Amino acid sequence: MTDTTTRDDPTSNTKPSSIWGGRFRAGPSEVMEQINPSIDFDQRFYAQDIAGSRAHTAMLVNQGVISHQDGSDIARGLDRVEREIAEGQFTFSRALEDIHMNVEARLTELIGDTAGRMHTARSRNDQVATDFKMWVRETIDHIDSALAALQTALIDQAERNADVVMPGFTHLQAAQPITFGHHLMAYVEMVGRDRGRFGDCRSRLNECPLGSAALAGTSFPIDRNQTAVALGFNGPTANSLDSVSDRDFALEFLAASSICAIHLSRFSEEIVNWTSAQFNFIKLTDAFTTGSSIMPQKRNPDAAELVRGKCGRIIGALNALLVMMKGLPLAFCKDMQEDKEPLFDAADTLELCIAASVCMIQDMSANAKAMRAATDLGFTTATDLADWLVRTLNMPFRIAHRVTGAVVKVAEDKGLRLEQLDLDDLQAIEPRITGEVYAVLDPARSVASRTSFGGTAPDNVRAAARAARERFSLNRHTK
Ligand code: ARG
Repeated sequence: MTDTTTRDDPTSNTKPSSIWGGRFRAGPSEVMEQINPSIDFDQRFYAQDIAGSRAHTAMLVNQGVISHQDGSDIARGLDRVEREIAEGQFTFSRALEDIHMNVEARLTELIGDTAGRMHTARSRNDQVATDFKMWVRETIDHIDSALAALQTALIDQAERNADVVMPGFTHLQAAQPITFGHHLMAYVEMVGRDRGRFGDCRSRLNECPLGSAALAGTSFPIDRNQTAVALGFNGPTANSLDSVSDRDFALEFLAASSICAIHLSRFSEEIVNWTSAQFNFIKLTDAFTTGSSIMPQKRNPDAAELVRGKCGRIIGALNALLVMMKGLPLAFCKDMQEDKEPLFDAADTLELCIAASVCMIQDMSANAKAMRAATDLGFTTATDLADWLVRTLNMPFRIAHRVTGAVVKVAEDKGLRLEQLDLDDLQAIEPRITGEVYAVLDPARSVASRTSFGGTAPDNVRAAARAARERFSLNRHTK
């Protein structure tokens, strides 16, 4: 965003707009001036708007629709307008509604009526669709790099914690021993799918609407392919009505953003749990926590809570656009101007949440002792005992499950962990159990044994981390 201010044109409600003034006698009412303009927010894609005008003008020259001289005057003028906006020297006017008309009006001041030739064979409807697509495309590229950094931070921590044993949970009940590295690698997969979804959105959106004009195409001999290629699109959109009324790309972007935000929110929820005194699994430094103004002992994981909370805004933006679009007939309707603010906010929010997540992941340190103690608490190697009965005594798994249940019951009644039970206790339930069983009741051995593809064994985690760096084309360690 530039720092430029928006100033109301004091004469705007007494004079008709200079752009369509031909058939208008009076200016808009005051409330119309409030509800109508989008310049306060669509100035954000001024660079895309000017790039679009440059490409369109060059095409008009190539096609002989406007002269070389006019083309180069327009191009030079656009350079100047762009510089003025970039340097904060540009005064945006609400009376001129949006970025398209603000740019054109300034260009007219600079080069005179020639500026108006730029708008041959196009309309603001195809312009705004093109600008917005280009903005979303660029934003997807930023988000993709940010998500790659997130994956790298996760993998770095996963490698550091490949051997650290913790309880894996289902229903938030201790289930089976896993490694902390394996837990972190789960998020690498989730983020990988997020990147895939953004990539899909990017490739589907990459068709250029410019030259569809208001809705019907144009009678000028334009070359839409040339404009499309100049603006980095794969080609032009095929149907002029669809071109100006399609906002699928915005919806897909917000859907991908929402799913991604949900992943970040779930991770934040884990951080909130893990940093509590009850879990004490990880520690965040002072950089990502806050104290309480009344309770001196507090150390609150605010950054994680905010990421979790901001997820709601992103889902809200998706919802706002879905509802805004659902009843619109073809083609352009002004309702669609409402697509930008929620999307900009969602994109900013997501980028901030990804950055905060990267920082927290790099910052956190695991408390291996507390994780191990929690693993010992919940009979987490009960499945290993059942597996041992299957493997050693050739029991059907269902029966082994029942026998193990009885063992857990005895341990629970005696207030002991599984490995603290005497062999007599075990043999009272199943006489064929031998002392060898104790080895599988050790959580470290339990995780080491889980070498099936995608399993939690430390060697698997190390291999998965290496493979993920390749699969997701990640650079080596962030630090
Ligand atoms: N400001 C509009 C938007 O943000 C641009 C297109 C306006 N077109 C029109 N015919 N009023 O979508």
